Amino acid sequence: ISLKPFNTFGIDKKAAFFTTVSSIEELKDALSWANDHNLPVLILGGGSNILLTQEVKGLVIKIEILGIQVIEETENEVFVEVGAGQSWHEWVQISIANKWAGIENLSLIPGTVGASPMQNIGAYGVELKDVFQSLKALNKKSLEVIDFSFDECEFGYRESVFKHQFKDQFVITSVTFRLQKQPKLNLDYGTIRETLKEMGIHNPGIKEVSNAVIQIRKSKLPDPVEIGNAGSFFKNPTIDSTTFEKLLKRFPTLPNYPNENGIKIPAGWLIEQAGWKGKKIGNVGVHEKQALVLVNYGNGSGEEIKSLAQQIQNDILQKFGIDLHTEVNFI
Ligand code: FAD
Ligand code: EPU
Repeated sequence: ISLKPFNTFGIDKKAAFFTTVSSIEELKDALSWANDHNLPVLILGGGSNILLTQEVKGLVIKIEILGIQVIEETENEVFVEVGAGQSWHEWVQISIANKWAGIENLSLIPGTVGASPMQNIGAYGVELKDVFQSLKALNKKSLEVIDFSFDECEFGYRESVFKHQFKDQFVITSVTFRLQKQPKLNLDYGTIRETLKEMGIHNPGIKEVSNAVIQIRKSKLPDPVEIGNAGSFFKNPTIDSTTFEKLLKRFPTLPNYPNENGIKIPAGWLIEQAGWKGKKIGNVGVHEKQALVLVNYGNGSGEEIKSLAQQIQNDILQKFGIDLHTEVNFI
């Protein structure tokens, strides 16, 4: 079957076998079937962070395990276990309706709850790890479900143990969140405060913060329903202070965000400076409002996107001496 409806880039590649699973039992059956037939398995959520560059020879298992359950409540906190197949943004909206604070800044991120720990999703000053309690994952070989604690997930910027040591070994079946009854709002990132002011809001709660984030995101990120994309294609690089000082002499307006490992530079700025923003090459291109987002205008292929990404990487290396690493998962 064609995977076109199952990836937000809208890439038309086929899978030899495809199934959806809505329970752990169905997931085990699907994995056993693939094991018996010696087929590789690709786990899929919403397909909003993948780039298909070839046909998938094995079995694609789309995770549709649902369920939202409060498992513990204290005076200030609530612990909620959410099924991996639940839509991320729907879960954010449900948390807001229940007055559970913590994920409002992560509004409108596409995809599923089960994929959220994979790259420790983040936006507007909040990352999944800030609200993460634990997760359950099924070992693809032993078919056992085990618990992962915060430390065991080894979260980093767009990183977790599931992209490294345990790559392709586990299927996340649920995530347990630790949310707050008294909100601690995060308004420092970018233009959240200005946007709230423009919206005429002086005493924001989590619903208003969510609305502001949605408004900002809609103003620069393309809606995959209209233009194929997978969000930021590259990660923002962190460079050392010597490299930074040298660059700053050449580019005095270089935006920069110091962190414990060095200085983070927005890759979108580098790509825009290099002249790529809004560029169209055949069926694919660089989004006109956000240079970090590569887009498929309709009939683009994974190979075309990959080639565009490589051209950008080469150019950024040549012009700035900085290596851009991809955020999107190549399949
Ligand atoms: P998929 O694309 O289906 O899968 C991604 C990877 O995770 C694959 O390797 C897949 O095999 C694996 N996987 C998926 N589900 C499971 C599971 N249950 N168990 C084990 N492995 C699994 N990301 C951010 O961090 N911040 C943003 O602000 C952001 N904005 C975006 C905006 C747009 C317009 C788009 C299109 C994407 C954006 N993203 C953002 C990227 C993307 O939404 C996230 O990475 C999201 O978590 C991917 O979820 P998914 O279910 O679509 O994963
Ligand atoms: N910028 C430009 N030109 C551009 C784009 C960005 O100059 O075309 C510069 C501007 O200086 C701007 C800065 O980059 O102030 C930051 O831009 P923005 O706030 O749009 O965020 P980003 O760094 O491009 C990151 C995440 C996004 C996340 C936003 C908001 C990564 C790789 N991307 O983007 O996540 O939504 O911050 O927090 O860290 C994703 O992962 O898919 C994603 C969309």
